[in-house]
Amino acid sequence: MARANGKVILFGEHAVVYGVPAIAAGVDRGVEATAERSDRAILVIGPRHVEPDDGSDLGRAYGALLSTVEAPPMSTHVESQLPAGCGLGASAAIGVATARAVLDALAEPEGTPVTPSQRLTRVLAAANAWECVFHGNPSGIDAAAAALGGTILYSRKDGARSLHLHRPLTLTVAVAGPPAATREMVAGVATLRARRPAIVDKALDGIHSIVRNAQLFLRDGDLASLGQLMNLNHMLLSGLFLSTEEIERACGLAREAGALGSKLTGAGGGGAVLALVHDPQPVLDAWKRAGFECFATTVTPGCDHDRGALGP
Ligand code: MEV
Repeated sequence: MARANGKVILFGEHAVVYGVPAIAAGVDRGVEATAERSDRAILVIGPRHVEPDDGSDLGRAYGALLSTVEAPPMSTHVESQLPAGCGLGASAAIGVATARAVLDALAEPEGTPVTPSQRLTRVLAAANAWECVFHGNPSGIDAAAAALGGTILYSRKDGARSLHLHRPLTLTVAVAGPPAATREMVAGVATLRARRPAIVDKALDGIHSIVRNAQLFLRDGDLASLGQLMNLNHMLLSGLFLSTEEIERACGLAREAGALGSKLTGAGGGGAVLALVHDPQPVLDAWKRAGFECFATTVTPGCDHDRGALGP
């Protein structure tokens, strides 16, 4: 059984598409996949069965993943604990778990041994080919976070490296309204940037400073300052028209219930909101009373596969 984590972006979503580094962390919910050689290439995710040539995005993504690792036809079954399209990296986690399952099924007992970093490189290449079908121009952060777990600093130029945390972080996550397509939210920022480059570039610079400071506060365990940076990062994302009424409501409720900070996470336009907390219960209670689906998660410093810097 192959696995991959979901993720939250703590700081820097959208800006990461333009080369700014971002900080992401694996969450303890994820995706499991198994694969075996078969007459036909078929992918089963819950009730959906797809094939590479059936005209669906999911089918095309599966085909792209298989050809990236030069796999023969495989039958793959996926189980996901992540709500789809909410900013929790479900799509990348499915890509990573599927790539791992396919590589496991390909491995010959007496074949040439593959080093962990060669395997990671293959998994990421396959998962990014998968992601390109859905997102057009993904930065790669979702696939890196799903593959590595723990907390990472990621940029398009330098790839991923694991970050040291002074102590684990407790986060609460709510699903604030129906998700929007990442591709459309990313395209919306690109359109805004084409029309108003000065405003968007100022926001990107602000997010860059937030990410730089957040690394220091994560290292020192300064939760109060991290919370303030989350609020600031959220404000800049709202200024790029990525927030919604539901997201604002969920962020506000979390802060009133004692969260140190809160922000949208991922593409925005709906989907997930996260809050940094000392005690998750009051925030979860407030969200549940308001009808939000929510859960608590812990972000840890270590990586599942801590290989240091990982190329882009
Ligand atoms: C989506 O989880 C993160 C975005 O920054 C898109 C990307 O990095 O590809 C919005």
